[in-house]
Order: sequence, then structure tokens, then C-alpha cells
Amino acid sequence: MKRVITYGTFDLLHYGHINLLKRAKDLGDFLIVGLSTDEFNLIKGKKSYFDYNQRKILVEAIRYVDFIIPEYSWEQKISDIKKYKIDIFVIGDDWEGKFDFLKDLCQVIYLPRTPEISTTKIKLDLFRTK
Ligand code: CTP
Repeated sequence: MKRVITYGTFDLLHYGHINLLKRAKDLGDFLIVGLSTDEFNLIKGKKSYFDYNQRKILVEAIRYVDFIIPEYSWEQKISDIKKYKIDIFVIGDDWEGKFDFLKDLCQVIYLPRTPEISTTKIKLDLFRTK
């Protein structure tokens, strides 16, 4: 059984997120999502519209997602990969090269982002049309 992990905020869930999660799941048999906590988002300089529990309700309803863990720090990826016996770490190619240090532990795959959609874009577009 191949285990896959990915991380993200997944705020204002959109089809770019779903495409990413579908392709991540297709790489293996079991997909774990490290969902950024609100505290970790602050560290990243992000403030989500939906809080952690609201985002979790949405992400856990996605058929490709098997398990959710909280992402609370940059450093936890190494211990998560060991703890959950991860075979493949996947993330969008906006992070290209940033997680190559995990290649000692598992396969690292950067998937092409879905063009022209992001949480930031949704927020900006809605603000502009107000
Ligand atoms: N993602 C993707 N295609 C998009 C948007 C996001 O493949 N159009 C991927 C990201 O690369 C990441 C995951 O979805 O692997 C979660 O991304 P996240 O940062 O939560 O979503 P964004 O829409 O990029 O949010 P923001 O605008 O706040 O950066």
C-alpha cells in the first residue's frame, strides 16, 4: 500500500485544490492531508477566511482524502513522513525545489498547479466586484 502526503491551507476550497488532491491520491492508495492550523497560517503570514475546523469539515468530505492531520510547523514534515510511513510527498509546483530535502526519506513530487485559480484570486475578485 502506497501512502501519499500533502500539505496546505485549502481555504475557500476551489477546483484547483480538488485537482491537486485527485492527482495526489492517484499516485498511491492512501492520502493524508496536513491541514495548516490557524496558528501556523499566522507564521506563514496568511489569514484564512474559514478557520481550521471549518476547513477540516470541507477537506475531509473529499473522496480522495483518507486522513487529516494538523500542520503546525515547518519542521514536522520529517517526523510525519517517518511516523506515517509515507512513500510520496506531493505538493503544487509553486513549491518547486523547496522540499527536495525530503528526498532522503521518500519520493518528492511537485504537481503543476491548475491555472488561473487560487484562494487569493477568489478573495481579490470578490472584493473588486463589491
Ligand atoms: N494548488 C493547485 N492549483 C491551484 C491552487 C492551489 O494545485 N490553482 C495546490 C497548491 O499548490 C498546494 C495546494 O493546492 O499544493 C493547497 O494550496 P493552498 O496554498 O492552500 O491554495 P491556494 O489557492 O494557492 O491559496 P493562496 O492563494 O492563499 O496561496
